[in-house]
Amino acid sequence: MKKLLLSAFLLLGCVAMQAQNAAPAGNVENGKKLWAKDNCYSCHGFDGHGGAGAKIAPKPIALQGFIAIVRKPPKSNMPTFSSKVVSDAELRDMWAYLNSIPATPDVKDIPLLNAIQ
Ligand code: HEC
Repeated sequence: MKKLLLSAFLLLGCVAMQAQNAAPAGNVENGKKLWAKDNCYSCHGFDGHGGAGAKIAPKPIALQGFIAIVRKPPKSNMPTFSSKVVSDAELRDMWAYLNSIPATPDVKDIPLLNAIQ
């Protein structure tokens, strides 16, 4: 009986650890969809490289700051998005999407552009 209880506790511990690891990651695919659906792309570009709005990708600011700015943007043309419109979980997915965007290569690493010079 003791062995059974011990195994049960160990198993619960593993499940809890896995849940903890999975929590902050965010869903890249869903984030990409929401980025378009919620119109963030119209100012920040489809890949977050900027336009009327700031360049956010490839390396967005930390998640807490990201959420804080969306809830209360600095004085700019950015509209406020309350949690009724975009939830924290949805913003986490968008943030994961922006983090998944690769860095723009240097000009020297683009063969075609080097051939012109
Ligand atoms: C109407 C245009 C517009 C839309 C739509 C818009 N933004 Fe912005 N956003 C801006 C502008 C302009 C700034 C720059 C603010 C500044 O730094 O003065 C900004 C800044 C930001 C920043 C801060 C970037 C940084 O690193 O300083 C984040 C994060 C952000 N926007 C996220 C979002 C998200 C997420 C959405 C969609 C839910 C969104 N924005 C929709 C215009 C927009």
